[in-house]
Amino acid sequence: MRKKIVAGNWKMNNDLDETELFLAELKKQVFPEKVVIMIAPPFTSLNHAFKSLRDHNVELAAQNMHQNNEGAFTGEISAKMLKSVGAKTVILGHSERRALFNEDSPILAAKVNTALENEMTVIFCIGEELEDRKKGSHFDLIKKQLSEGLFHVSDGAWENIIIAYEPVWAIGTGETASPEQAQEMHKFIRKIIAENYSKAIADNVSILYGGSVKPDNAAEIFGQNDVDGGLIGGASLKVDSFMKIVNSF
Ligand code: 13P
Repeated sequence: MRKKIVAGNWKMNNDLDETELFLAELKKQVFPEKVVIMIAPPFTSLNHAFKSLRDHNVELAAQNMHQNNEGAFTGEISAKMLKSVGAKTVILGHSERRALFNEDSPILAAKVNTALENEMTVIFCIGEELEDRKKGSHFDLIKKQLSEGLFHVSDGAWENIIIAYEPVWAIGTGETASPEQAQEMHKFIRKIIAENYSKAIADNVSILYGGSVKPDNAAEIFGQNDVDGGLIGGASLKVDSFMKIVNSF
């Protein structure tokens, strides 16, 4: 059965002191058993968060990694390094990485392979720009992002894949996809996974929605049949709003 997941993507926010304050507050919370809670702090806070959360039911994700296992790639971080500091999950293909750091599908496909070879879980992000939606090409675009970046993996790899649908026009804008728009796209994503793999695989994969999820809209979005949780940006930076979202299921 697919899991319900709420993951906080901190992006480039929170230094070590701020991370510590967040974690101290987070550890006072009661976590619902039916929801997997994840946070993705910056690289510099991962190991601290790992040690601090050792006895708590919160998983750690990294926000990115390099596609090579090692070598002369100044400034980059490998899968092995992430695992060595406690991150077994990595977010790949976030629209900010695609748009601002030129991560195209071949690079993302290579990153997916490297993460899987290193026995990591991948949160694979996809999402259309407003222009695509206005033109009515959003379904084609999503299909293309999935086919080019992800559909080369084996059936077995899907055990370690989570999809995050994040329409770019809804990220950090305060404009959320309506629950109907989210459901429509999530259902479509599940359909094309079923077509390319199998219904069983499609039924088992968790598909998260991301883009201006807040305490006041989370319940309605998470209430949709094919929405299994959220990838939360801004509202994951404060324990109070993050936990309200976690408790929206
Ligand atoms: P916001 O929740 O700030 O819109 O960010 C969403 C996001 O990009 C999560 O990865």
